[in-house]
Amino acid sequence: MELPFAESWKIKMIEPLRQSSREEREEWLKKAHYNVFQLRADQVYIDLLTDSGTGAMSDRQWAALMMGDESYAGARSFFELKDTITRITGFEFVIPTHQGRAAENVLFSALVKAGDIVPGNSHFDTTKGHIEARKAFAVDCTVDEAKDTQLEAPFKGNVDPKKLEKVLEEHADKVPFIIVTITNNTAGGQPVSMKNLREVREIADRFGKRVIFDSARFAENAYFIKTREEGYADRSIKEICREMFALADGMTMSAKKDGLVNMGGFIATRWEDWYEAAKAYCIPFEGYLTYGGMNGRDMAALAVGLEENTEFDMLRTRIHQVEFLASLLDEYGIPYQRPAGGHAIFIDASLVLTKIPKEEFPAQTLTIELYREAGIRGCEIGYILADRDPVTRENRFGGLDFVRLAIPRRTYTDNHMRVIAAALKNVYDRRDEITRGVKIVWEAELMRHFTVKLAPAD
Ligand code: F0G
Repeated sequence: MELPFAESWKIKMIEPLRQSSREEREEWLKKAHYNVFQLRADQVYIDLLTDSGTGAMSDRQWAALMMGDESYAGARSFFELKDTITRITGFEFVIPTHQGRAAENVLFSALVKAGDIVPGNSHFDTTKGHIEARKAFAVDCTVDEAKDTQLEAPFKGNVDPKKLEKVLEEHADKVPFIIVTITNNTAGGQPVSMKNLREVREIADRFGKRVIFDSARFAENAYFIKTREEGYADRSIKEICREMFALADGMTMSAKKDGLVNMGGFIATRWEDWYEAAKAYCIPFEGYLTYGGMNGRDMAALAVGLEENTEFDMLRTRIHQVEFLASLLDEYGIPYQRPAGGHAIFIDASLVLTKIPKEEFPAQTLTIELYREAGIRGCEIGYILADRDPVTRENRFGGLDFVRLAIPRRTYTDNHMRVIAAALKNVYDRRDEITRGVKIVWEAELMRHFTVKLAPAD
């Protein structure tokens, strides 16, 4: 008999979970203004809000914490981190930052100015926020395949080369760089192929532009290249990473995802002029150049995390769990962005709550229903997160309306996946009775989803 697949690690430390009653959850939802970001974490049973900073560190990472060098300048832990990053990416210049958006803030402060145009594949909301806050424009050049959630295609995170070329033909003088997000979070944790990264490089070279990878989930992207793209089956994850980054000029990194730490980030680049320009913003915003907002011990743990998470077995264990959840949803007929993404399942709310108009935010409504059902906290990646158009101030209803179930790394078991799938099935079975969505009572101008106040629609 063939042995079944199992995790490539065992568990040494546990944390209790608390269940709640439906009445309690109803009360808590009201107090949270129907925005799950406003819930207390102890009001949540299974927390799928994000895979960011919510993973479990390994024994080696905890051991590394004890060895952290907390020197203000020139800490050994910085050099350990820098050497690891250089080995994995090939980038010589490294600036630590306290998380991914801080890396964006520092680098974009140096590179983006009012009126600029930054093409890419579904810029993440903080990335878009940092572009739009500088009165520049993020232009989404993602392949159209990503919009059809039921289409099975291996690399739905790709950049459409034709769309990218068009932006450059029309606005090359306004483009400071191209940004490619690997994996493409907003489109459903969908990967970008090596072939596509090469195409982007070729177009960038033709127009004399540089390319940044938003690399929060670069290791998961490498896993998909290995398992889905022709010619990569026999290559190691580390070899694939080197090949991917050879096609970029620099990266911004939220280390809270594929770095397997709870807080941290960095900028890395091959270009000294970018490094010099970014330095000037790192010191006032983040801190001196060899810590940039991170503790020495955190840099030490991150160096180990990057090393561990660029190994095949670690990634296989992780992606296998996401695929397991997807297989249960398939059994129940619940529609999600296909195929399953690297870090999450993205439920297509428009195919579930068909009686709720866009204006009443179907994905947010489904997020609320899932919490109400079982205390499971997902996250709307849809019309609320899309914010308003910076010029017209209209809601942006052009994209997809997802509930993201992000799976933290090494945190929950497959039994939790069974609970999640069953809770979703219960909501799905009563979907036709859900006819009322939500309305916005208060919202911030940018990145409104974190703080928006909602109420049941009239
Ligand atoms: N880029 C991508 C692709 C991201 O997914 C994130 C964060 C960031 C940049 C910003 O990094 O949080 O460290 O400042 N994504 C989290 C999420 C928050 O839930 O998807 P950060």
